[in-house]
Formats: sequence, structure tokens, C-alpha cells
Amino acid sequence: MSNIVVVEDLVEVYAGGTRAVDGISLQVPEGEFFGFLGPNGAGKSTTIKVLSTLLRKTSGSVTIDGHDLDRDPEGIRRTIGVQSQETVVDGDLSGRKNLLFQGHLQRMQGAELQRRVEELLDLMELKEVADRKAKQYSGGMKRRLALAAALVHRPRLVFLDEPTTGLDPQSRAKVWGYLSRLNKEDGTTVFLTTQYLEEADKLCRQLSIIDRGKIVANGSPADLKEQVGGETLALTLGPTSAAGPWEPLEGLLRALPGVDKVVDVDRGLVVYARQASRLVPEIVTLVRGAGVHLESINLAAPTLDDVFLQKTGSRIRGGDLTRGAAPAPVGGVRGGVY
Ligand SMILES: Nc1ncnc2c1ncn2[C@@H]1O[C@H](COP(=O)(O)OP(=O)(O)OP(=O)(O)O)[C@@H](O)[C@H]1O
Ligand SMILES: [Mg+2]
Repeated sequence: MSNIVVVEDLVEVYAGGTRAVDGISLQVPEGEFFGFLGPNGAGKSTTIKVLSTLLRKTSGSVTIDGHDLDRDPEGIRRTIGVQSQETVVDGDLSGRKNLLFQGHLQRMQGAELQRRVEELLDLMELKEVADRKAKQYSGGMKRRLALAAALVHRPRLVFLDEPTTGLDPQSRAKVWGYLSRLNKEDGTTVFLTTQYLEEADKLCRQLSIIDRGKIVANGSPADLKEQVGGETLALTLGPTSAAGPWEPLEGLLRALPGVDKVVDVDRGLVVYARQASRLVPEIVTLVRGAGVHLESINLAAPTLDDVFLQKTGSRIRGGDLTRGAAPAPVGGVRGGVY
């Protein structure tokens, strides 16, 4: 699969001296659902603006669908659709006219454009308000209209800058569904920025995590979470018939394949292991064999927030940057309960 986006050592320094993008490199294969995850001010929008030819880069190289940014920005503009963070619909035009106008800008016309516009109004559930001026739309409607505008000409690559920020949970879920279909059924490459961990986890097959202008981690959500060092299994145990608290059992658990650490806690043991969920049956057998009563097992999977924490020393926390905030309790019940 060829890379539709290739970025090498991209730097963007704003006039005031802010180094918003500080030497990033990335490749996005055609057909990928790629996520650019990072907290406020990380450099996500700046990167999207450069890649979509809206902002001149300071240095580095960018190639999109084989078009070099310096030599052929027009080629890039034909390939891509962009939804920027600042909504760019024209408030004095109706939703429908906004989409028609966007189509004209992309040199579409006639019945094909009409069909496409009606299809998008339908998909984004804007049909009922299609003839109202866009300035009368709610924030969520404006966002959906901006998303539709980015898609009118069926671009092979779309840049979406926080497409679901400010949407209510229901609208967000709808946009997720639509973006998944766009990627799966039409093969559109999606390059999406988000501060929402859940969104990145759910939608994106590949992620780059950016912080203060630098990429701090790359990989699939599953790979990234695995890098954190597996999962935790918190065992709540009843009294043991043996002499020491959990002594023989602890040793047996430590010897299981994939177990990194076993920690004695107040009412039981916490097992740190790679793919700990797979060990549950064996652990249950061992605990019973040791004559210890097992009250519960809680599996806590690492989240992308744990990844960010490990790489940067702070948490992202779904859209709200809380640097230095207290970490979630280890062994807490964040995953499934057995
Ligand atoms: N036009 C500008 N002039 C000067 N500095 C800017 C400009 N736009 C952004 N910045 C600065 O560049 C850095 C990166 O900003 P950017 O908008 O790319 O972040 P972001 O990751 O998109 O954040 P958010 O999640 O809040 O949208 C920030 O420090 C920001 O203050
Ligand atoms: Mg932004």
C-alpha cells in the first residue's frame, strides 16, 4: 500500500516565535484511518493547516498523493477535503447553498452535484434545515455542515480537525458511524485530529500522539496500550489457610508466563501482566489450589491516557488537559469485571 501522506521533519514557527510543530515525520498509507491525538496547543491544527496548503511551512518536506507541497499545492488541493477547526460555512447562505457553492469551487456542477448535495444533507441529517441560513444553525449543525462541505467532491483524503468537538454524545456517535463507513466503504483516507481518547481508540487504526510540537508515540491503539506494559488484574482474596498472608500463592503467580510483577495490596494481590486477561483461568485454578477464597477479579486495561502519561508525564483526559493531575489508582476497575 502506498503512502498518501509523507511528512519529513516538518517545522512550523509562527511569527511570534512559537515553535508549534517541531520536526515531525509521519507516513499515512492510502485507505488508512489515521488519528493525530494530542492535548490543547500540541500542534495538531497547525500540522493540518500546513498539510492542506493553508499555512506556509517553515521547513521540512510534505508530499501528498505524490504532489510535493512546494511544487504542486494545486495538486494537493484537488486530492483533499478539509474541515478546519474554525467552522468555515457562510452564515448568509443556506446549508444547501453552502454545499452547492463548495461543489462549484471543486468544479462540480449539474445533476451530479445536486445528487451529491442531497445525499450529504441526508447523511448529516440536515435536510429539514437545508434552506435555513447557516447562521441560524446550532453549533452541532454547523459542524455537520462543515463536514459535509469537506466531502462534496468525494476527496480521496480528508483532513478533519476535531470533527466532533462540541457535539452532543448522540451526534458524536452518528459522526463516528459516518466516518467509519466513509473509510470502509468508499476507501477514503481519513486524517483526523482529536483530544478525545475514546474517539481515537474507537475509530483510528493508526495513531500518532503529539505533544508540544513533537510526536511522542506511534502505533495502533492496541500496540500503544500494550507498550504501557500489559494489564492489571486485581484479585480480592479471602483469608488463607496457610501461614503467611498470600505467600505461596504470590510465588506461583509470579512464575506464570507474561507476569511482570505481583504486588501485595490491602485485600489481595495485584498482578501486572501482558495480556493478563488470558491468564484468568489459570489464576483462578492456582488460587483455588492454594486453598484461598477468591472474592473477585478485576481486569483493568491500560488506556491511551496511560500511554500519554508514560510518554509525557501528564494526562490528556478526554479533551481536558490536566498536566500533573493525580493518576488513576493502579488496579482500579477501569476495565471489565470478571
Ligand atoms: N496564528 C498563530 N500565531 C501564533 N501562534 C499560534 C497561532 N496558531 C497557533 N499558535 C500556537 O501554536 C501552538 C499549537 O497550536 P495548534 O492550534 O496547532 O494546537 P492544537 O493541537 O490544534 O490545539 P487544540 O486542541 O487546542 O486545537 C500553540 O502554542 C498555539 O498557541
Ligand atoms: Mg486545534
